[in-house]
Amino acid sequence: MQNQNKRPDSMERITTAALAEKFIDEQILSIKAQVGDGKVLLALSGGVDSSVVAALLIKAIGKQLTCVHVNHGLMRKGESEQVIEVFKNQLGANLIYVDATDRFLDLLEGVSDPEQKRKIIGGEFIKVFDEEARKLEGISFLAQGTIYPDILESDGIKAHHNVGGLPQKMEFELVEPIKLLFKDEVRVVGHALGLPDSMVNRQPFPGPGLGVRCPGAITRDRLLTLRESDAILREEFENAGLAGKVWQFFTVVPDFRSTGIRNGKRVFDRIVIIRAVNTVDAMSATVPEIEWAVLKKITDRILNEVPGAGRVLYDLSPKEPATIEYE
Ligand code: XMP
Repeated sequence: MQNQNKRPDSMERITTAALAEKFIDEQILSIKAQVGDGKVLLALSGGVDSSVVAALLIKAIGKQLTCVHVNHGLMRKGESEQVIEVFKNQLGANLIYVDATDRFLDLLEGVSDPEQKRKIIGGEFIKVFDEEARKLEGISFLAQGTIYPDILESDGIKAHHNVGGLPQKMEFELVEPIKLLFKDEVRVVGHALGLPDSMVNRQPFPGPGLGVRCPGAITRDRLLTLRESDAILREEFENAGLAGKVWQFFTVVPDFRSTGIRNGKRVFDRIVIIRAVNTVDAMSATVPEIEWAVLKKITDRILNEVPGAGRVLYDLSPKEPATIEYE
């Protein structure tokens, strides 16, 4: 029998809208055949993979799908709002939005060990998702945004980093419509499904979210500095035409302060680090030369607009020896 987890040699690479349409039509039929009139549950993070799976399933089975979006309080600015806008308001999905910010941040209070932080975030995510799933009745399928590299590189980046995956103890049959696709193909399919560019071209975002960019014990005020500075960075990279050219970029706010001076008074402000990298496979990475004027504009805006930010640095370290993230 054919191995369902192996991409057939004959499978054409999806590079055009027409090929994506064909894939979508085939998947709609196959999802309908698998699910029948059953109910499907999906954890929708807003990342490319889960968003494409959601859009496919909505097309195939509409309200038989329930999406759960857990906001762990470590999302980038505007991301949860975009998930609600696109899936609930525009596509009319059954979407359960859980704002679990306080649960996560309370548990993380005072925890500075990076592994411990990841464990707490992953464990709590499963708990929240599990609680929501139990409130629903008659779910027999769990949809997942597994893609081909996840199957191929079972010891690759995602497996190495990911914070937990989904509840193992719940016995659902899996629905994995994009498991034979590579990332670039997922994006072509996402466009064909009409998802917004900002969602389809979204950068990789770690499961523990901004938590790994807030090194040491996370505090709410440091998280605010992080989220606001990150939003400015994204806006200015977009304005400078860099958003599609630089592979990944974000800010980091370390857990120590530095001396500054405001209105003649000594202050101890936060430090914001800009991290931008280019890479093919995230195993190694280089730092792009960003125009001085762009860096200066971002610096000025962060210093003027972000509460508590008093110093801005640009990280010049390639991978290796530095990793892309800080924790
Ligand atoms: P590092 O920091 O190891 O990151 O150089 C390599 C890539 O992996 C992303 N990353 C994660 N992705 N869950 C993920 O799905 C995670 O926990 C995680 N941590 C890091 C990182 O953003 C970079 O693209």
